[in-house]
Amino acid sequence: MTSPFYITTPIYYVNAKPHLGHLYTTVSADVASRFHAMLGADTFFLTGTDEHGDKIVKAADQEKISPKEYADRISRLFYDLWPLFHIGNDKFIRTTDPAHEAVVLQILQKIFDSGDIYFSEYEGLYCFGCERFYTERELVGGKCPDHGTIPETIKESNYFFKMSRYQDWLIDYIQTHPEFIQPERYRNETLAFLREPLEDLCISRPKSRLQWGITLPFDDKYVTYVWFDALINYISSLGYPNGEAFRQFWPQARHLVAKDILKPHGIYWPIMLKAAGIEPYQHLYVHGYWNIDESKMSKSLGNVVDPYYLQSTYGSDAIRYFLMREMVFGLDSNFSEALMVERINADLANDLGNLFSRVLAMVHKYFNGTVPEIAVQVQSGKNGDLFPPSRHAIETFKTEMGNFAFHKAILAVWDLISVMNKYVVSNAPWDLAKADDQKAKDRLADIMYNLIEGLRVIAGLILPIMPQTSLTMQKHLGISRDNALSSLDQISLWGTTQPGTVLPKPVTLFPRIDIKKPAAAEQPPVEPKPLLNLKPEIAFEDVTKLDLRVGTVIQAENIPKANKLLKLTVDLGAERRTIIAGIAKSYSPEEITGKQIVVVANLKPAKLMGIESQGMLLAAVTEASTTVVTPSRPMPDGAPVK
Ligand code: MSP
Repeated sequence: MTSPFYITTPIYYVNAKPHLGHLYTTVSADVASRFHAMLGADTFFLTGTDEHGDKIVKAADQEKISPKEYADRISRLFYDLWPLFHIGNDKFIRTTDPAHEAVVLQILQKIFDSGDIYFSEYEGLYCFGCERFYTERELVGGKCPDHGTIPETIKESNYFFKMSRYQDWLIDYIQTHPEFIQPERYRNETLAFLREPLEDLCISRPKSRLQWGITLPFDDKYVTYVWFDALINYISSLGYPNGEAFRQFWPQARHLVAKDILKPHGIYWPIMLKAAGIEPYQHLYVHGYWNIDESKMSKSLGNVVDPYYLQSTYGSDAIRYFLMREMVFGLDSNFSEALMVERINADLANDLGNLFSRVLAMVHKYFNGTVPEIAVQVQSGKNGDLFPPSRHAIETFKTEMGNFAFHKAILAVWDLISVMNKYVVSNAPWDLAKADDQKAKDRLADIMYNLIEGLRVIAGLILPIMPQTSLTMQKHLGISRDNALSSLDQISLWGTTQPGTVLPKPVTLFPRIDIKKPAAAEQPPVEPKPLLNLKPEIAFEDVTKLDLRVGTVIQAENIPKANKLLKLTVDLGAERRTIIAGIAKSYSPEEITGKQIVVVANLKPAKLMGIESQGMLLAAVTEASTTVVTPSRPMPDGAPVK
């Protein structure tokens, strides 16, 4: 039995839009999850957004909206992004979900009851960017190592979590479980942190300073620290304590994070679990950072790479491939658009794409697009020329994927592609096709069959990395939807392509990108495409509930003490209505008088500034201006708008 596979990404803060770094972690988790499904495991893949805390309040304040509205808006950008990259997460958690909040309360209460949370006055150096206290020792030149700012001295009473009590336990746990934190350098880094005495963790923030958080169950004057809330998402998502998924997938969790959040995951989280009487998770996989053109990606440098732009310019599979191929898991990597285009052209358009179209073109040319009869060599199943290199690729792929060494797994597939390209050249099928003896014909059939089988193996192996390309390849190799490759065992069975299968005409898998003029090279990749932040979908019946009518404004006047509003008298043909409209900043009474407008005519009347408004007009609104919607040609007043 393959053990259940539970993989998580960090839940991303909603103070900024998704970027390349978030995309990388999420694609890695998706690739790992798809790969384990191919091994036959039940999988659960979790991602989501981290929505409480000071950062979000600050970002929302800047936009002059509430933290919840702000969180809804940005969380949606993450939520909508993942399907574009064919990310198959099983759940998207938001820390503002009531079910999550309930679990946080439970855990806090449990740890409080067991005596591991205490109240104390504390004076310390607080970095608002990190939302945490720093010790002098942790600062670099007196400044926060992440933000480069001087922390403020804050003195306040707070609740503390007795992490120090568990320090020896954690050291012992890490030492006796070498696979707990990987790669090894991050395990060593965590052990190095633990060589110093562990400070207790301040897990509350007074409401006088921050309200946007989960209120402590044992003191309603405080909210909980955002990390204490966020980490719990990994179990609340599974329905802790009694949920079916929790029973099935805990403690098999594999948390995937970048090095920036090693400490909360490698230290706080296992200790929180231990203190709450929950088994520690099994693995933490830590990857490095994407730098952009050799510098750190940051808003202030204006070099933040927008995944929406990448997807619309290069397509999701090419980007997924590049991210997995380019980064050595655990180390930092450099991103540049030129480098990416070069790699897409070399690996995808040339190596893979050419092999695929070349082989299929030959099957069409020499065998009318029909898979040739199995010839002598492949009949015994294991003796095909390309069987040994295919088997080698599958085995290496399996080992490396299991180790999160995605780039090495990909290299194994590209080694097979290179063997196959050489196989074509050295066997020169075009010469065999010219000869007209039976032996040459049989040999040609053998070679083509081997190549088709090799392509089938490649299509199967790339499934977790480039799911769409895999499906296209499978279709053109005559693999029906019912027999679609979904397991490594199925891929490993050599000789499953049925002779006589008719193959569709070849397609270009990856068109070459012109390096001189990559699709949008002149545009910096930093400006996110504006997005329609749509409200939830509604049914047609909901639309038909609106009774929209054309009307003419026959009179308009300002309303004293309401500088945004105009009072309009609107002729709807059979009757006149008074409508209060928020258009005074964009229209004078004179300008709007005489215009035809569109009115929601069946809206329940409401009093505004003491005047009853009997409907609402439609207008296009941006921050800068408001424009009233008007029929493009005159219409009778009262005409319905549908
Ligand atoms: N909200 C916390 C995580 C809580 S998990 C219980 C958080 N959010 S974050 O939005 O800042 O995301 C950090 C994560 O985004 C990193 O750990 C990594 O997964 C990803 N990355 C952010 N920038 C990155 C790079 N430049 N390169 C690679 N990944 C990066 O921390």
